Amino acid sequence: MSDHPDAAVWLDGALRDPAEARVSWADHGLTVGDGVFETLKLVDGAPFALTRHLDRLRRSAAGMGLDVPDDGVLRAAVEEVTGAWGARAGRLRITLTGGEGPMGSDRGGAAPTLLLVATSGRSVTGSSTVALVGWTRNEQGALAGLKTTSYGENVVALAAAARVGADEALVTNTRSELCEGTGSNVFVVTGDRVLTPPLGSGCLAGITRELLLEAAAGGPSPVEESVLTVQDLLDADEVFLTSSLRDVQPVARLHDLRDPHATAVRDWTTPGPLTVTCAQVWSDAFGPGGAVDP
Ligand SMILES: Cc1ncc(COP(=O)(O)O)c(C=O)c1O
Repeated sequence: MSDHPDAAVWLDGALRDPAEARVSWADHGLTVGDGVFETLKLVDGAPFALTRHLDRLRRSAAGMGLDVPDDGVLRAAVEEVTGAWGARAGRLRITLTGGEGPMGSDRGGAAPTLLLVATSGRSVTGSSTVALVGWTRNEQGALAGLKTTSYGENVVALAAAARVGADEALVTNTRSELCEGTGSNVFVVTGDRVLTPPLGSGCLAGITRELLLEAAAGGPSPVEESVLTVQDLLDADEVFLTSSLRDVQPVARLHDLRDPHATAVRDWTTPGPLTVTCAQVWSDAFGPGGAVDP
């Protein structure tokens, strides 16, 4: 392996040559999406908010009924794969699946597959264009709030967004409330209030979202959880997204794709003042020189 590989891969117990690493054709993550995952930002090779990501991995796995290796095993794997990646920016993906299983939804009782991959990060800068799609998140479904490898609905929504030049799709839930993006949480500024859907909307408990809520609490622009309608989104003064790879990202344009025959568009001048405040709160707490594992 070269000193600066394009990817560092740790699979089932050891670092592997990225060109050789393979999971089984019978892996239940591959065949039926029976798996969970995490995506972390690597800052100079260090995983950001590792403890919170490992906690969420355990919560997602518990929700799926998957066994998780011990914390020590997970952390040692993270150390090995980030060590191989080097002190560079990037992204770390941790995937845990049900391991080899039958060709249907039933599980076979095999040991889980644990895969860690460090690669270069899609650096997300500037403003986002989002598209509100007509498909709904089922906030009462078995996978609500879990970060699972059953992300097919997100793939379809993001592809629809990409067709109109958007880089993120927003979804509502079965109650027609605003929920989240396919890989991000959404924030709406209304007057002097910064609002984001509550976890009961079915959105993922985003770690960037949670850290921003904590960091902004008690400051001049606290962020509140609030049930939001599509009208709140359409009427918003500002909109921004959060995620591990986006941090706080302003939204400049919204396409409304709920009616495929009428593509409405809303534009915002970015970044809006409260988005700037939130981005500042974020970078003061977690930017260069800030906490690495808050
Ligand atoms: C569906 C969904 N919502 C929200 C997020 C944002 O979460 P985080 O801030 O932990 O990256 C993600 C992350 O990829 C996601 O997949």
